[in-house]
Amino acid sequence: MGNQQALKSKLNSLLATYQVHYQNLRSLHWNVKGPNFFELHLKYEELYTRTQIIIDDLAERLLTLEITPLHRFIDYLEVSKIAENPLIADGREGMSYILDAQKTLIGLEREILVLSGDLDDDGTNAMMSDLIREKEKTNWMFSAWLNKK
Ligand SMILES: [Fe+2]
Repeated sequence: MGNQQALKSKLNSLLATYQVHYQNLRSLHWNVKGPNFFELHLKYEELYTRTQIIIDDLAERLLTLEITPLHRFIDYLEVSKIAENPLIADGREGMSYILDAQKTLIGLEREILVLSGDLDDDGTNAMMSDLIREKEKTNWMFSAWLNKK
């Protein structure tokens, strides 16, 4: 696979992964229970709202590159690097999922960062570094919340 083809498929895979992650976040928002309900219900909403904006920006970046974005969930589920979650009511479990999901997303974005750098695709490269930096910061916060090293 040439670099251009690899970039195209990885960008669609990133889009798919964000779409599945988005639905997982909505599920967390709906189903959370326990003493942190109000805090987490709001935090999950903040995260899925931000994710929705990222999804649209990403799909439109693909279109800018003359790549057709995947648009069906059947395709998203096939290429997503994150699986659909079962129902999660526990706050720690929900936050641990988010920390891991964001690590998976950062991994994919790093691959795209390298590829887009090789292809001199500065726009995609800058977009990936912004997305990576944003999630690195929130992962610090999620680790602090979870009291993990
Ligand atoms: Fe809501």
